[in-house]
Amino acid sequence: MISKEYQEVLSLIHSGTKFGKRSKIPEYLKKFISKNYIRSMIDFGCGKGQLIDVLKHNYPTIDIMGYDPCNPQFNVPLKKVDLIFSTDVLEHIEPHHLDKTLQEIKEHSDYVYHLISCAPAKLILPDGRNAHLIQQEPEWWKQKHLDLGYEIIKEEYRSFSKHSKQLGRSIPVKNYFIMAKLT
Ligand SMILES: C[S@@+](CC[C@H](N)C(=O)[O-])C[C@H]1O[C@@H](n2cnc3c(N)ncnc32)[C@H](O)[C@@H]1O
Repeated sequence: MISKEYQEVLSLIHSGTKFGKRSKIPEYLKKFISKNYIRSMIDFGCGKGQLIDVLKHNYPTIDIMGYDPCNPQFNVPLKKVDLIFSTDVLEHIEPHHLDKTLQEIKEHSDYVYHLISCAPAKLILPDGRNAHLIQQEPEWWKQKHLDLGYEIIKEEYRSFSKHSKQLGRSIPVKNYFIMAKLT
């Protein structure tokens, strides 16, 4: 779920910058795939889709798809899959569309894995808002998933500071990883 205006803003950012270009497979995702029989998965909010290429190379037997309403290449209907995962996406969703988006994800997969940033983004949107439209603590995200009927399989919170060359100062990094299954 996304508004037309926000979709246009992010599409423009996508076309002119390196926004959404992750290609490294998250460690926990690797472990999960090695321990579970996964036939299909969706990279939800896949950005430029570089991680999909790496995943396809590493897991040629898994059907790996991308979804991103702000990249025309991946603005496709969601399909039912074994796992929906996202990296740095949920905090970018417009707050008033979050519940419907999580519901949509729930309808398309029993397993979810999300890497969520709980800190402000470096990126400021043209209208002055911080690009992380939702800045909430891990407990808040966990409760959202419990309320939707998920059982938490694994969670981890990493909080530290790092120097940003771009901003010339130290910035907080607060990453929450959540893996959950519908009960
Ligand atoms: C910081 S980028 C992360 C992209 C990619 N997952 C990565 O790790 O490089 C955030 C992504 O969330 C996507 N996004 C924003 N709102 C969304 C929504 N409502 N549904 C799905 N994706 C959305 C954006 O288009 C953008 O690609």
